[in-house]
Amino acid sequence: MDNLDNRPHVLITGGTRGIGRAVAEELAPTHHLLIGGRDRDLAAAVAASFPSAEPFVADLTSGDDVAAAAGRIDRLDALVHSAGITAMGTVEELSRQTWREILEVNVVAVADLTSRLLPALRRARGQVVLINSGSGFFTNPGNSVYSASKFALRAFADTLREEERQHGVRVTSIHPGKVDTDMQRQIVGHQGGDYRADAYLTPESVARAVVFALGATPEAQVESLNVRPMAT
Ligand SMILES: NC(=O)c1ccc[n+]([C@@H]2O[C@H](COP(=O)([O-])OP(=O)(O)OC[C@H]3O[C@@H](n4cnc5c(N)ncnc54)[C@H](OP(=O)(O)O)[C@@H]3O)[C@@H](O)[C@H]2O)c1
Repeated sequence: MDNLDNRPHVLITGGTRGIGRAVAEELAPTHHLLIGGRDRDLAAAVAASFPSAEPFVADLTSGDDVAAAAGRIDRLDALVHSAGITAMGTVEELSRQTWREILEVNVVAVADLTSRLLPALRRARGQVVLINSGSGFFTNPGNSVYSASKFALRAFADTLREEERQHGVRVTSIHPGKVDTDMQRQIVGHQGGDYRADAYLTPESVARAVVFALGATPEAQVESLNVRPMAT
């Protein structure tokens, strides 16, 4: 019989939708989930759909929200950063405000939340998984701000991995190609053309990469994984 108290605890930001929600579904049979989301009712409803879960309500752009929500956590075995946003546009078109918004969610909030949770993660010799992107390695016209945020996120992950090695905290970057989620609908909507769900990864395929990373034996660290669609 499963003892719910003995389950590893995992916080999934962006756990209400898309990839984060799929990660929650994959981990639900084995983990206690903290479902990250901005909308209290939605996060609570998603949490209620799993055997052992609770909402983690915070707008990640608010330092006060992050401090308050993180301050309530004293046990954590894994932190999965999936919350993220994008904006398309040429450098000529993008505003200072847009640069700030994207970098705030995709980089600044990740660093702040991780920093606040490091004491708990160190106690557990835990793991941090960052949902990065192919855009963390390469870019193309119209993708400067998103790609810059994901390059920065990769640098953050690489640095954190080396800093935390001595504390036993392991760090994984996962770099998916196009995934069939609301974010991909937004991108295709901006670019024009057909939304080809069957040509994209499913959120579940990315979630399985997260499960693989979290399942590494203690002496091993999955540093980076690329998951890309078969279709071009
Ligand atoms: N979709 C792709 O093709 C693709 C490819 C490569 C990498 N990625 C990366 O994968 C991650 C997940 O993307 P997705 O496609 O699953 O996106 P999504 O379906 O648009 O979901 C985004 C999630 O982030 C949360 N979020 C956004 N802003 C937030 C904020 N200020 N505070 C708290 N939560 C916030 C959303 O919560 P709310 O419900 O409250 O809005 C939602 O749960 C992102 O980091 C993205 O960059 C996506």
